[in-house]
Amino acid sequence: MALETISDIASLRARLAQENYIAFVPTMGNLHAGHIHLVKLAREKGQCVVASIFVNPLQFGANEDLASYPRTLEADCEKLDAAGADIVFTPSASEIYPAEQTMRISAPPIANELCGAARPGHFDGVATVVMKLFNIVRPSVAVFGKKDFQQLFIIRELVRQFNLPIEIVAGETQREASGLALSSRNGYLNASQRLEAQRLYRTLQLIVENVQKGNRDYSAIETQSSQYLTQLGWIVDYISIRSAATLAPATPQDSDLVALAAARQGRTRLIDNIEFSISA
Ligand code: PAJ
Repeated sequence: MALETISDIASLRARLAQENYIAFVPTMGNLHAGHIHLVKLAREKGQCVVASIFVNPLQFGANEDLASYPRTLEADCEKLDAAGADIVFTPSASEIYPAEQTMRISAPPIANELCGAARPGHFDGVATVVMKLFNIVRPSVAVFGKKDFQQLFIIRELVRQFNLPIEIVAGETQREASGLALSSRNGYLNASQRLEAQRLYRTLQLIVENVQKGNRDYSAIETQSSQYLTQLGWIVDYISIRSAATLAPATPQDSDLVALAAARQGRTRLIDNIEFSISA
């Protein structure tokens, strides 16, 4: 069956009324192998696979890249079709926000840390649009990537705290051979920035090795790694070692950890993380 493109909520609801086990992959488009990995997971889980492409104004700050965010609908649809998606939902901004969205989901306090510290309101915008998309699509399963670890955490909280009958499936971060996590924002990098960008994952790997060798001085590791990247020309938003289960700063008692980083090459903000375990 060929991919169906639907742009209005009423038609999507009418089309989905006949489906009883929908797997959903929300995206902002400019699809790469990371997104497609999630679509393939959705294909394994659901009878009907719906992807959405919507660049959500609510989650962009005033000085962020909303206007320049890459929009590549035709190529995206070809990739979704090849990956076995059944339907792509491509609403306009006025379809999703016909009037000012004066009610928002207020994301939990963790939304003010890590990526939220540099992007106030970002996760409220993400949670609000995901709630709206969940109400429109009414999926049984929704698939999100571990690349956006904090986002995944907040979506799990959304589902848990609002009793949404949706199973959240997490897809592993897909990377280039160099280790660089695939991201729509990689397209903003020039050749030398792209080469340097590999160092973000490499730095996280070094942190993991360091902790696994027995170093438990997490704040010293964070400071050293941050200084190292800064010396190489990065603007570091944060490097942080956290509990993978709660996202609270890691304590020596935690054994399931995640090392997370956000840093800029020029105007391009890159994020990455590695989940890992230590024997306590
Ligand atoms: P977007 O950045 O397009 O990402 C859509 C989904 O793809 C997210 O779940 C993200 O974690 C996942 N993803 C991105 N890069 C990945 C990679 N390299 N490997 C695996 N998965 C990857 O995240 C958003 O859009 C938006 O915030 C959204 C949830 C759609 C709400 O607007």
